[in-house]
Amino acid sequence: MIELGVNIDHVATLREARKGRVPDVVMAAKICEIAGAHQITVHLRQDRRHIQDRDVERLKEVLLVRMNLEMAAVPEIIKIAHRITPYTVCLVPENRQEITTEGGLNVSGQKEGLKKVIDEMHEKGIKVSMFVDPDIEQVHASAEIGADSVELHTGAYANAEEEKLVNELERLYEAGKVANQLGLAVHAGHGLTVRNLEPVAKIPGLKEVNIGHDIIARAIFIGLDSAVKEILAILEKVSNK
Ligand code: PXP
Repeated sequence: MIELGVNIDHVATLREARKGRVPDVVMAAKICEIAGAHQITVHLRQDRRHIQDRDVERLKEVLLVRMNLEMAAVPEIIKIAHRITPYTVCLVPENRQEITTEGGLNVSGQKEGLKKVIDEMHEKGIKVSMFVDPDIEQVHASAEIGADSVELHTGAYANAEEEKLVNELERLYEAGKVANQLGLAVHAGHGLTVRNLEPVAKIPGLKEVNIGHDIIARAIFIGLDSAVKEILAILEKVSNK
């Protein structure tokens, strides 16, 4: 079955709106876990706008499922990842002004630096994923420098006008196919929702999706448990076909 990582950053966004204790990200993570999520994903941003260092530490202590830490490949955050040792780190580009992660990582343009980051993560037993656009050059570069997986950026697909949808899906399918051939595990994420997930779940060999905003947004109305379960039901349906 394609596995689900729930990104709980926006539970922390709501908490940080009042700089208080609620809603608690650990409670959210445990509800996702009980609902059947396979992984909890958090992005420790350099500006700490939502997830805080303490959240990552607490999650590492209490999670029974895997923790996936999204992060920029910068010394401060690399040091934290080495100390906390999440199951996976997903390297993402980070720009302080952006509302959310905007594009994929330029792996081919910084192979040497990123290879060093990957090697050091591997020494600590941490798997490394590269968040890349569905671009064959970036997939090749990720394989060359020893990444374990690529997370294909689905933002362009999620935002595409009707007439461009097929084209964006084809890019994702092609990138997935090449990643499989190169021995990379294939993940996908960004902008995925209950309404647009199904075609993405058909990316060849897809192993994992990471979904945040839509699950947390729907949780306000239908509850977190139900919001996780409706995504799991889609993944199960596609996996069984
Ligand atoms: N995957 C990665 C690498 C991301 O940066 C994000 C956004 O933090 C997500 C998945 C989740 O995106 P969304 O919140 O749009 O579901």
